[in-house]
Amino acid sequence: MPVRTALILAGACLATSAFAGEVAAGRLKAAACAVCHGPLGLATLPDAPNLAGQSAIYLTAQLKAYRGGSRQHEVMTLMAKPLSDDDIDNLAAWYSSLKVQVQAPP
Ligand code: HEC
Repeated sequence: MPVRTALILAGACLATSAFAGEVAAGRLKAAACAVCHGPLGLATLPDAPNLAGQSAIYLTAQLKAYRGGSRQHEVMTLMAKPLSDDDIDNLAAWYSSLKVQVQAPP
């Protein structure tokens, strides 16, 4: 492979990981969320939403909205406050990587 192609590919990988977040790191961080959102993103509290399979773009936007205050919720405002941009990207990568299946009622 020509050197230039290899460099471009390496650059593309770096760029992808910088934006996409790390699933494994997100999974670790999500331990703090599992009590309400479930260990695999299916909510265990009746008033908490499922996060499994949700779009990473949506999850990132909501977590930043809680952190910044434009979306307010007693619990989530507190949970999102200490999260860094990387934490948010990683959490979004983890929850969006979970595959969900739906079934229409018979
Ligand atoms: C004590 C329970 C609890 C914990 C812990 C918790 N959440 Fe939540 N979460 C909620 C509830 C309840 C809502 C619904 C809030 C609302 O109405 O805005 C919510 C909403 C959200 C939403 C918005 C979902 C949507 O569909 O718009 C995201 C994203 C989210 N939580 C992520 C997290 C992450 C990531 C963590 C861990 C860092 C976490 N939550 C920890 C209870 C919790």
